[in-house]
Amino acid sequence: DPVDRAPAIVVGSGYGGAVAAARLGQAGIRTLVLEMGRLWNTPGPDGTVFCSTRAPDQRSMWFRTRTEAPLATFLWLDVVNRDISPYPGVLDRVHFDAVSVYVGRGVGGGSLVNGGMAVTPPKAYFAEQFPGVDADEMYGTYFPRARAALGVNTVDPAWFEATEWYRYTRVSREHARRTGLRTTFVPNVYDFVHMAREAAGTATRSALAGEVVYGNNHGKRSLDKTYLAAALGTGNVTLHTLERVRAISRARDGTYVLTADRVDLTGRVVETREYGCTYLFLGGGSLGTTELLLRARETGALPDLDASVGAGWGTNGNVMLGRANHLWDTVGENQSTMPVMGIDDWANASNPVFAEIAPLPTGLEHWVSLYLAITKNPERASFSYSGGSMRLGWTAAQSAVSAAMARKLFDRINAANSTIYRYDLFGSSSRAFADDFTYHPLGGCVLGKATDAFGRVKGYPRLYVTDGSLVPGSIGVNPFVTITALAERTMARVLAEDTAP
Ligand code: FDA
Repeated sequence: DPVDRAPAIVVGSGYGGAVAAARLGQAGIRTLVLEMGRLWNTPGPDGTVFCSTRAPDQRSMWFRTRTEAPLATFLWLDVVNRDISPYPGVLDRVHFDAVSVYVGRGVGGGSLVNGGMAVTPPKAYFAEQFPGVDADEMYGTYFPRARAALGVNTVDPAWFEATEWYRYTRVSREHARRTGLRTTFVPNVYDFVHMAREAAGTATRSALAGEVVYGNNHGKRSLDKTYLAAALGTGNVTLHTLERVRAISRARDGTYVLTADRVDLTGRVVETREYGCTYLFLGGGSLGTTELLLRARETGALPDLDASVGAGWGTNGNVMLGRANHLWDTVGENQSTMPVMGIDDWANASNPVFAEIAPLPTGLEHWVSLYLAITKNPERASFSYSGGSMRLGWTAAQSAVSAAMARKLFDRINAANSTIYRYDLFGSSSRAFADDFTYHPLGGCVLGKATDAFGRVKGYPRLYVTDGSLVPGSIGVNPFVTITALAERTMARVLAEDTAP
């Protein structure tokens, strides 16, 4: 018999998991959340919960001996990375054959490490990607509901125009304007009132102290402060941390049985437990959820899972790049880590790209304009499972499609401004385009393919997917608002139809 039974279990506490937990708890359903990362609420010896980006320690990365920052070098020097001791740190970089994937680990998942950009996709592209979803209902009900619960806000335009902390953004905006390109403000979950107080010296600096990929000590409305706080506040939700679900099966009476390994702070498995539940919600993210379902299908534990589990994965077309500005075009030594503007060329049918104007907060003037480009790369890949682990079929040639699209746009920007690319930012190989990693893993259990139109897993009643694995490889903007809104839609439907007594 399973050791612990709960009516509902949620695996993972990122966006999909947090929405499920909150809505289940509010509906009065006792729910257990299993999260493999730690709870980030206690200060370390230096008095802060998260370590700084400039001097990272063990808290930075998930069981590593050296940090693996996305921007590893500067003038070809490995100035950023540090040796650390293995620990359940907050950022993980998962390596596959041709691409690596950054993900957040801890209570709050990706919300702990991400840039907070809270972008709603263009309705037409949402409808193209999700033909089985009522787009009017999404834009009328679930996107607004998600934005409100996430605490989305926008930078005060007057402050933006005046502050030194967004000079880098204004410079890139001007370069886009000279090219004839449109820019647009991008909302964020970072509290811009707090940020203005940081600038004024009346609040402790976080976004203005380089903090982001290893966690923000202040100002950011991560999920532990929004959906997960609401979930725990209902009194119906229990959270177990440092417990990694390894396997899922189903007992004869329909109970879902989960096997979970609990690790200590050195990564040693100290206990293996079994849990049972009636309703199972998977929110382990594109990688976590896909791995659990793929393993369940391939080992025969859940043999009736659809053949499309593991398919439809993409990078959201992510590419990072830097441009070298003229000496008179200074970007400023003070840069906020929270991006607030994008170059929106998505409507350009021959080369759709949405490029965020990203910070490079080194504390020194470096004349670099940095971007995270989201390109409409149509390439998709599948995961396969063998020998207990998952492989990803994504190739370097598929990443090159994203880089070529970014180059098309930024060649225009360089031509209009007589500027060039920077080749010293992404390792020793003199690359201008970092297309070998993504921040936006999407797909693996695509909505309407591996599941029905509401995230109900095909072949298995009362088993649901609520996270980024539902999104078919691309959504054209940063994905967490879409993931949250889709999870809201799933929970509304499931609570109305599936859990009624
Ligand atoms: P998410 O990955 O958030 O959560 C999954 C959780 O499940 C994790 O906490 C994980 O530890 C846990 N888990 C996985 N497998 C498990 C298992 N077997 N057992 C127990 N627990 C398990 N997006 C955006 O919209 N705006 C932005 O500005 C950015 N910026 C950004 C920067 C960086 C550095 C990163 C890494 C990512 C972003 N993103 C982003 C992407 C965004 O964070 C991402 O799309 C979402 O976090 C995905 O939400 P999910 O709910 O799918 O999974």
